[in-house]
Amino acid sequence: MRELRTQRLLLRPFRPEDVDDAMAYRDDDEFARFLPHIPQPFTRSDAEAFVAVNMATEGTNSPTFGVVLGDTLIGTVNVEVDEAGQSAMLGFAIGRPWWGRGLATEAARAVMVWAIEAFDLRRVWASTDDRNLGSQGVLRKLGMQREALRARDHVGRGGEPVDEVVYGVDVT
Ligand SMILES: CC(C)(COP(=O)(O)OP(=O)(O)OC[C@H]1O[C@@H](n2cnc3c(N)ncnc32)[C@H](O)[C@@H]1OP(=O)(O)O)[C@@H](O)C(=O)NCCC(=O)NCCS
Repeated sequence: MRELRTQRLLLRPFRPEDVDDAMAYRDDDEFARFLPHIPQPFTRSDAEAFVAVNMATEGTNSPTFGVVLGDTLIGTVNVEVDEAGQSAMLGFAIGRPWWGRGLATEAARAVMVWAIEAFDLRRVWASTDDRNLGSQGVLRKLGMQREALRARDHVGRGGEPVDEVVYGVDVT
């Protein structure tokens, strides 16, 4: 895993000093609305664990990049590679202060392009809560198409059943 640069962003491995920034953007109900696995409130110990887990992904086939704007860590982009299947799942999250500026698309595109080459991928896919229109906007801009609906896939933040939608693209 190396550093990637885009027009506005640096994508790099996590570092111990990312804890404060991670806590700042992840301690936010609205950020975590469609991500029920993220604890709310998001405490310092949650942030420390999050940074440690992400640091440990460096050099694996499921790396998480920290998304850095200026001097601030504002989010993540990660891939989970299935080497035998030559496919990867793409994930991304950007803190609320930076929404609506095309930054998630810019960051995710850079990691997707890198991963296709690095892991010789034939397919990239992602899935999200069917209500998460922002995420689906990013996936469409990355060239993915809606492929399937996993009805009642998991339980949402409020205990509601959640339909998960799958997007994907053939990158051969
Ligand atoms: C979803 C998320 C990544 C979008 O980030 P972003 O930087 O605001 O996205 P972009 O600015 O790159 O937007 C991409 C497209 O989606 C659209 N979009 C973004 N947020 C939207 C929303 N809430 N409703 C409808 N469309 C939205 C944009 O308009 C844009 O399309 P356009 O250029 O044609 O206008 C961000 O809101 C986020 O991180 N949310 C919390 C974590 C999360 O849900 N991650 C995804 C998990 S699958």
